[in-house]
Amino acid sequence: MPKLRSLILLLSLITCIGLSAEEKFALTCQPYLQNLTDSTVTVVLATNRPSVAWVEIAPDDQTHFYERERQKFFDSQFGHKSTGTIHRITVNGLKPDTKYRYRIYAREVFDNGERKVRYGDVLANDVFRKEPYEFKTTGPSGKDKIHFAVFNDIHEDTERYADLFNQIDSKDIDFIVLNGDMTNNMDRMSQLYDGYLNKTSELFARTIPFYMVRGNHETRGRLQNNFIEQFPNSTGQPYYTFSRGPVFFVVLDGGEDKPDNDIEYCELADFDNYRTAEANWLRDVVSSPEYKNAQYRVVLLHIPPVGRREWHGLGEIRRKFLPILNDANVDVMLSGHMHQALYYAPGEEGLKFPVIVNSNVDVMDVNVYDKEIDIKIKGRDGKVNRTYSYPAK
Ligand SMILES: [Fe+2]
Repeated sequence: MPKLRSLILLLSLITCIGLSAEEKFALTCQPYLQNLTDSTVTVVLATNRPSVAWVEIAPDDQTHFYERERQKFFDSQFGHKSTGTIHRITVNGLKPDTKYRYRIYAREVFDNGERKVRYGDVLANDVFRKEPYEFKTTGPSGKDKIHFAVFNDIHEDTERYADLFNQIDSKDIDFIVLNGDMTNNMDRMSQLYDGYLNKTSELFARTIPFYMVRGNHETRGRLQNNFIEQFPNSTGQPYYTFSRGPVFFVVLDGGEDKPDNDIEYCELADFDNYRTAEANWLRDVVSSPEYKNAQYRVVLLHIPPVGRREWHGLGEIRRKFLPILNDANVDVMLSGHMHQALYYAPGEEGLKFPVIVNSNVDVMDVNVYDKEIDIKIKGRDGKVNRTYSYPAK
């Protein structure tokens, strides 16, 4: 028996080695856009083995991409090209309200840390038989109307995600919000890539940027600290702000839902202190001129600050965030988490602003005009299930 066991072990080892030798250098996560502004954008991608990565940028000027060597932007930090598997390539010096074409590149790198670097295969998107990828920088803030859509609680169901995406008019959409629990947990990056990010890239995100809101499921798993690597933003925290058109957006992170000492967190949770730091940051945000002077203020928070059967995480959100938001002239908060459609008007549950909770089977289609915010909640069949509108204050 021991001999048989050894033989089986040897055979499975040979199979494993054979399979990994055959696996080509490849993208595990297709490219997507983050942090698009009037002068910059970050392209995120991931490879199956360590690599260097870069983006080539070309103007949208009718020339063939091969007309000349295009300007390169590398994933680099402090003067060194990054040699990991997750890449964030920031392109800057762009003109506002301008379309650009781009090509992504990654090259496998064998770096033993002893100044003997070897390079392997290279990959790039095809710009000969296919069109290059493209994006358009934003226009000046505070003027144009904007159109965006919100998805939440997809939980790696790419079919439902694609069906919902097909219900919005994506031709004129400015950006997308992924409002938490897009994945089930962060144990393996392939869960994020195969669970929704590759579908996100395929559906829109090579061209249209999205903003990620951390849900309680994105706080779980041994790779949860990769969240910021995968979704870079202006603060380097899962809570941040951004401005688009007439709207100032505040992205909040409610953290975990149970007390920090719950058995599920293996004594590794420190969310109470985290939410206190976040509340201090939020206090500064709502007193800033950018926030106060915006035409509209929209808050994105996965776990809505409402509910009768209060869990610890919800109680923390209500105690730490709600008093600040109630004094901050919020136009509307968009939430998810509950897997059902709910609405809370100002005056309910201690709120001084409306909260719309999107279900896991609907998409929010939002237009912001000069005079009002217009929200349509659409189902998988395209039917408009609810509408909300808020006039400019
Ligand atoms: Fe959730």
